[in-house]
Amino acid sequence: MAPPLLLLLLASGAAACPLPCICQNLSESLSTLCAHRGLLFVPPNVDRRTVELRLADNFIQALGPPDFRNMTGLVDLTLSRNAITRIGARAFGDLESLRSLHLDGNRLVELGTGSLRGPINLQHLILSGNQLGRIAPGAFDDFLESLEDLDLSYNNLRQVPWAGIGAMPALHTLNLDHNLIDALPPGAFAQLGQLSRLDLTSNRLATLAPDPLFSRGRDAEASPAPLVLSFSGNPLHCNCELLWLRRLARPDDLETCASPPGLAGRYFWAVPEGEFSCEPPLIARHTQRLWVLEGQRATLRCRALGDPAPTMHWVGPDDRLVGNSSRAWAFPNGTLEIGVTGAGDAGGYTCIATNPAGEATARVELRVLALPHGGNTRPGAATWPGSSSLVFILGTSGSPVYVVGQGALSLILASRPG
Ligand SMILES: *[C@@H]1O[C@H](CO)[C@@H](O)[C@H](O)[C@H]1NC(C)=O
Ligand SMILES: *[C@@H]1O[C@H](CO)[C@@H](O)[C@H](O)[C@H]1NC(C)=O
Ligand SMILES: *[C@@H]1O[C@H](CO)[C@@H](O)[C@H](O)[C@H]1NC(C)=O
Ligand SMILES: *[C@@H]1O[C@H](CO)[C@@H](O)[C@H](O)[C@H]1NC(C)=O
Repeated sequence: MAPPLLLLLLASGAAACPLPCICQNLSESLSTLCAHRGLLFVPPNVDRRTVELRLADNFIQALGPPDFRNMTGLVDLTLSRNAITRIGARAFGDLESLRSLHLDGNRLVELGTGSLRGPINLQHLILSGNQLGRIAPGAFDDFLESLEDLDLSYNNLRQVPWAGIGAMPALHTLNLDHNLIDALPPGAFAQLGQLSRLDLTSNRLATLAPDPLFSRGRDAEASPAPLVLSFSGNPLHCNCELLWLRRLARPDDLETCASPPGLAGRYFWAVPEGEFSCEPPLIARHTQRLWVLEGQRATLRCRALGDPAPTMHWVGPDDRLVGNSSRAWAFPNGTLEIGVTGAGDAGGYTCIATNPAGEATARVELRVLALPHGGNTRPGAATWPGSSSLVFILGTSGSPVYVVGQGALSLILASRPG
């Protein structure tokens, strides 16, 4: 007899069990079991005293502050496999007793700073199998101290809130596998003394910076917890930068090298240490000499090879490093651009390529031709010859630099890279 039952439930107010759910008051703690009930939203009349709330396998699309308001005794909340795309700010704001939050198998693409505010005692946070592409840097800040288990696997993350994760002293399991992570900040795990499982499988890591965490587990006496580490399925670039890791010798794992070509496909732990090598920079081509008209843009190029790819710097005629300014840009690819040249920019520039294996340099000479009008004859500036149609050939031994001018003010100067 459904109608009388419904009346009875409505009459009993807040203590009612939501209609499609089952409520159990076992050992004095209330469980509200609503899995697989076809729910489109969190039932509004869940008993606020519930300790366990199971809402998995429904069709819930969004969560907001009213859904869990006043549930200060809730310990276990399961929302796995719904269709959640949005979590409103402070949706979990009252859940101060919450220990376990399952949000796996939903459709979250983003977590804002406020989405996970409130559960200050959270220990298990399961967010695997969403479509997360972004997590705000402060998203985990309310439970940094208490979190023990964080699962972010099977998402689209390139970045995670490293600063927050690195400051979770109780963390023992961290699953970051099957994401798009292509870099780990140095020392990301240095403070995680309790970490015993780290899964980085199937990301886009080409290299790993040395981290004290990785040497744990070899020395069973010294380490608080032996570490289970997996980073297979990453395109590891097996050069001298990964030698530190190879020296840790964990021959039981199945990681492979993706590059350099000679090592591609080989088992990481089977490649002899001596083959993890780098190549010092070699400057492949660079501008040798460049003449520009005063006021014009100057582009000095310098390209270097090496393994790992060298970092490029320029030192100007004043022997100072050239950084970005309102007039000049030093690009990572080795190109230096000076927007509006003046006589003071003329002189010798040095391009410096560095990597862990060494350094290489090249000299570039910049000459700034003073404009014909205005009697600009500052020292260091070459004088404009005044002809309306010119072809200069400036030879440097073995590699000619050619300069072509077609009109009084359209002198175009190019150097052929060496
Ligand atoms: C559960 O049962 C206990 C007694 O066994 C009672 O004191 C308590 O109020 C009940 N809780 C709820 C939420 O009904
Ligand atoms: C939450 O508790 C406050 C204060 O006890 C009360 O006024 C409010 O109605 C409650 N809200 C819900 C949704 O139970
Ligand atoms: C200068 O700016 C460019 C473009 O914004 C940037 O790529 C480059 O890294 C900067 N160079 C330095 C030396 O900061
Ligand atoms: C280097 O990078 C800058 C900025 O991205 C670009 O304008 C320039 O063409 C690049 N130079 C070379 C040689 O690739």
